[in-house]
Amino acid sequence: MESDKPIGVFDSGVGGLSVLRALRAELPKEQFVYFSDAGHAPYGERGDSFVAQRSMTIARQLLDEHRIKALVVACNTATAAAVHLLRQSHPEVPIVGVEPALKPAAALTRTRRVAVFATRGTLDSAKFRTLHDSLKQHAEFVLQPCDGLAAAIENGDEDEVASLCERYVRAVGEFGARDGCVDALVLGCTHYPFAIRHLQPLVGDGVHLVETGQPVARHTRRVLEERQLLQATEGRVQFKTTGCEKALAAAAERLLAA
Ligand code: DGL
Repeated sequence: MESDKPIGVFDSGVGGLSVLRALRAELPKEQFVYFSDAGHAPYGERGDSFVAQRSMTIARQLLDEHRIKALVVACNTATAAAVHLLRQSHPEVPIVGVEPALKPAAALTRTRRVAVFATRGTLDSAKFRTLHDSLKQHAEFVLQPCDGLAAAIENGDEDEVASLCERYVRAVGEFGARDGCVDALVLGCTHYPFAIRHLQPLVGDGVHLVETGQPVARHTRRVLEERQLLQATEGRVQFKTTGCEKALAAAAERLLAA
């Protein structure tokens, strides 16, 4: 049966595990194939056509080899570069993308100043510009490209993660609840939730860190429900990568529990 098939989830590396964690909590009886393209990461500073070509190749592989029933693009950069192409090429497959959570942040902010951390690829994309333009009247968004941060998280280089977080938080300006300060920070790359332990102390406890895992998981459930594709077996995850299998297994064990 169609519903017995797995859901494909992909990212440039371990970032999508922040989405997979939410998907497993929301859909504990589903099977997932998690694909990390670590052999070609990071995507964020590579340019659209490279990311689009990788995304198309991975989708094809997940469909051919794993017969996935749905695809979650657990990467903001790949969603911006390729989700429209993926939907055009595979109209029969439900495809869920992720985008920086500007809308939830605009609803949360009291100071009406919101910072957005994301890759250069995401911030430069037409898709992001459209989203940003549609919300400009609700809040001022301070856009901060975070070169190198996804790669440092990918490599598990905690010193580099800490120093880049500090640099980018400082570049935004003052965080806090007072007028004129930024009181919400959008984590617009799926790697960044794994840097929360560095970011929260830097911005202060009162500042909202807004990620996309849970809303994406809820949306995926709705999409599957509508198409009667929900499964009720014992949930499990299979991991695939173009990088090092051992490193992915270790990262999954560490990060999925976090
Ligand atoms: N995790 C990805 C994102 O959400 C991309 C990180 C990268 O490879 O640069 O944008």
